[in-house]
Amino acid sequence: MSQRFVSVAKVGDVYEGEGRLVEVDDRLIALFLAQGQYYAIDDACPHQGAPLSDGIVEDKAVTCTWHGWRFSLEDGRHIEGSKCKVATYPVRVVDDSIEIGLP
Ligand code: FES
Repeated sequence: MSQRFVSVAKVGDVYEGEGRLVEVDDRLIALFLAQGQYYAIDDACPHQGAPLSDGIVEDKAVTCTWHGWRFSLEDGRHIEGSKCKVATYPVRVVDDSIEIGLP
């Protein structure tokens, strides 16, 4: 499947340990910088839809502020063991631009 990368932010717009909400093609995506790496996941928590961009980032995972579910930023899995996941997107940096890969 071909993938296209879309610029969503500039390096420096996203702070270590914080999420930033970006909108691309009507998708709401949470962009994070965690331990020096950028990650992008769907913003809506699969539990009840809270914005994961407002979540608490720790150890390459984000904790939803509504009920505490934790999701891996690397693969989107719910760490405490349910089978649900959030979608993840590849992120790359080109010059000073942060780009997300979309299907
Ligand atoms: S809405 Fe995220 S844990 Fe409930």
